[in-house]
Amino acid sequence: MRDYDCRDNVMLFGGIPVTDIAEEFGTPLYVTDENRLRENYRNLYGAFSKHMTTEIHYACKANSSLAILKILESEGSGIDAVSIGEVVTCMKAGFTPDRIIYTGNNVSNEELRAVAELGVLINIDSASELERLAKIKSSIPVSFRITPGVGAGHHAKVVTGAKGSKFGIPLKEVVPTYLRAKELGFEPKGIHVHIGSGGMSFEPFAEAMEILIETTNKLKDAGIDLEFIDIGGGIGVPYRPNEPEADIEELGMNLTEMVLEETDVRKIMLEPGRYLVCDTTVLLTRCVDVKDAGVKKYVGVDAGFNTLVRPVMYDSYHHVAIGNKFGRACTAKYDVVGHICETGDHLARDRALPDPEEGDVVVIYDAGAYGFAMSSNYNSRPLCGEALVHNGKAELIREPQGIEDLWRHQKIPERLLK
Ligand code: LLP
Repeated sequence: MRDYDCRDNVMLFGGIPVTDIAEEFGTPLYVTDENRLRENYRNLYGAFSKHMTTEIHYACKANSSLAILKILESEGSGIDAVSIGEVVTCMKAGFTPDRIIYTGNNVSNEELRAVAELGVLINIDSASELERLAKIKSSIPVSFRITPGVGAGHHAKVVTGAKGSKFGIPLKEVVPTYLRAKELGFEPKGIHVHIGSGGMSFEPFAEAMEILIETTNKLKDAGIDLEFIDIGGGIGVPYRPNEPEADIEELGMNLTEMVLEETDVRKIMLEPGRYLVCDTTVLLTRCVDVKDAGVKKYVGVDAGFNTLVRPVMYDSYHHVAIGNKFGRACTAKYDVVGHICETGDHLARDRALPDPEEGDVVVIYDAGAYGFAMSSNYNSRPLCGEALVHNGKAELIREPQGIEDLWRHQKIPERLLK
């Protein structure tokens, strides 16, 4: 969790009072700090690349807004995409296909064809996908996602690498699958795992790396030399006050040392999503209602789980502050709740806040990863806008939807109109 400066009890974001940003662009609004995004990229890249050739493939599912992609493109990042939509969105932001890897799961032949035609490296997820892809195109770069039997994450719903997972190729099938790929005319370039998302311990990364290394060496014995090892994404970030940050210097040193000492592979790849974008962004909301329900006090804001679903979906903690009463003494504990007609629509629970009132700007921290990207039109609420702050200036990078966007792609059959 980042600390923010304040002036006259108003929180500053990228040097700008959050009240000004909320006033200028309206709420709810995701606001991203460009400098922080660049810093996060440089820190992570530096921690690995000082030891060996490193490619960072930003997992753009975390936030695929064009301006965010463009910033990372200009930093030299690559992309980890999971759908044809993500692939072409990234190309729209300036990424060439050779900087994109595609890691689909249960994808159709139509989608495989579209990705293959662009020449994007496909990270194959199953023996079935391999056979299907071979019928489409085998003259493209491929790698394989394996199931390491090691999983980690902030919630059971985002643990991906455990034994029996729906993702990847089970360990005992890995060597035969690579050999089959060769038989089908592919030249496998690498090997990949993704253990899960948001775990705060580094041990599972080392365990997964050990499996990758063992498998890479078995493949070498079978006559298959790989160019890269891809450890996937999953680096956790601190969402709570005083929670320590991940020591990425140590992670970089340990993982690269393992690869360099135990294999002939000389390139490491990572697919961070959360680490790059999470703390770059806050969600600005406006308090519209304050209620004392006796056993509970509520701060009602003009956003809901349509805007930020993580607290409801994963019981995730997002820190909350009142942007125009920043640093003021807290008076009581409140639940921060939204405008969705479900009891579960909480953005935060039991938070000490300084005398919330209607009109206050309620700031929800660390909303850059899987925030806007997972927002929806539930309850017929238009998607909110996004702004970018750079050099003390804020500008809109996504217009909020209007009401008419809610039915833009819908049709009433003629016969119902008679
Ligand atoms: N690579 C692959 C293949 C992935 O599936 C993911 C995330 C990543 C990389 C990036 O993981 P990260 O570095 O962001 O942890 N919606 C959830 C997170 C789901 C992650 C899905 N896969 C959340 O809000 O916590």
